[in-house]
Formats: sequence, C-alpha cells, structure tokens
Amino acid sequence: MALPILIAPSILSADMKRLPEEIRSIEPYADWLQIDVMDGHFVPNTAFPVEMVRTIETSLPLDIHLMVQDPVQYVQGFLPLRPKNITFHAEAVADTASRRALMQAIRDGGATVGIAINPSTPLQAIDDVLGEVDLLLVMSVNPGFGGQAFIPDVLEKVIEARRKHPALMIQMDGGIDASTAPLCIRAGANNLVSGNFIFRAADRAKAIASLRSSV
Ligand code: DX5
Repeated sequence: MALPILIAPSILSADMKRLPEEIRSIEPYADWLQIDVMDGHFVPNTAFPVEMVRTIETSLPLDIHLMVQDPVQYVQGFLPLRPKNITFHAEAVADTASRRALMQAIRDGGATVGIAINPSTPLQAIDDVLGEVDLLLVMSVNPGFGGQAFIPDVLEKVIEARRKHPALMIQMDGGIDASTAPLCIRAGANNLVSGNFIFRAADRAKAIASLRSSV
C-alpha cells in the first residue's frame, strides 16, 4: 500500500527578511512547514528560538525539529504554539524511560511525536521506542546547516525501518532535491523535508511537485 508523500519545506533556507512572503510562496503546495530549532550545543548553529516561531503565521501544520541538547525544556516552550509534530533527537535522550516521558509530554500537549537519528546513528539505537513513535526522521545530512550534500548510506536505515514498520511515517531531511527524492521514496520514506532546493527555486510549486515523484 503506497503511503501518500508529504512535503515539508524547511524555512531554515528561506529569506528571513521576507519570511511571511516566503511562507506564502509555498503554502498552497506544501503539506507541513518544518521549523529547524537549533541551540548551538547539539549542533554548531542557532536557529528559530520560540520567540521567533511565535510570530510565524501559516495555515500549514508546524513540524518542529528540535536539534537541541535539552528537548524537555524546549517542548514546553513550543507546545503552546499547537504544532502538528515535535521531533527530538535520539542522541540527546539516551535512556528509554526519558524517551518515553518526553514522548508522553509531547502527546499530552496535543502533538504527534517524532524521533530523529543522525547519519552515524544506527537504527538499533532506537529499537526501544521505534514501535511507539508517530514519526521516524532519518537525517541524510549531519544537522546544523542547509545546503549540504545528501548522504546515501542512510537509505539502508530507511529500507530496514519501512520493512519493520509498514505504516510508520518515515521522514528524511537533508540534501533532498529532484534527484535524491526518488531514492528516498523508493527506500520507503513518505515525508520529505527540503530547504535549499525549494527556496532556491524560481518556481516553487514545480520544485515541490518534483519531490513527490518516485521516478
Ligand atoms: C539541517 C536541517 C535541514 C535543512 C535542510 O540541519 O535540519 O532541515 O534545513 O536543508 P537542505 O534541504 O537545504 O539540506
């Protein structure tokens, strides 16, 4: 059964001086809006503090990607914005009990919960909770910046996760464009995050449509 492909533009790559117009330019064609939250510790960059995200107006469901050392603290700040999904990194929450407590807090706040793994993190590192999350994010770049090259080795983790969890939402993020998107979809991903490819495109509707194709 083919799962619908969702496209989540990452506004890390948008023109911050024209953010409202940038969001409006993709709203009719995108499914989610991904907000990359960075604390300067988990990744060597900072982005999208909650004060800034609070000012964002959009009809798109918000997908909050927490690239932070202390996701528990950040979750409480973002839940009042009523996001659709909040994803935390497995590398920032090592033990199962803490992962489950954080998952419960996110769900109690009305959002679905995602767990993310960096390129060097094996799928086995999340065996404890993979069957319990709503979304798995398999990073195809080392997080922190847009515009990096896609790391194809991560595709085998997507293939394995899809085999084990046929109905799970599997998201990929990093270096996704018209040539790498089909690789992701064929491996089993059904939710694609893309930043530079979309926001560098003159025709964003066309760019987003091109990501939905698996050929
Ligand atoms: C990287 C971010 C990605 C990034 C994607 O740390 O998590 O969402 O913005 O941007 P592109 O599509 O340009 O790799």
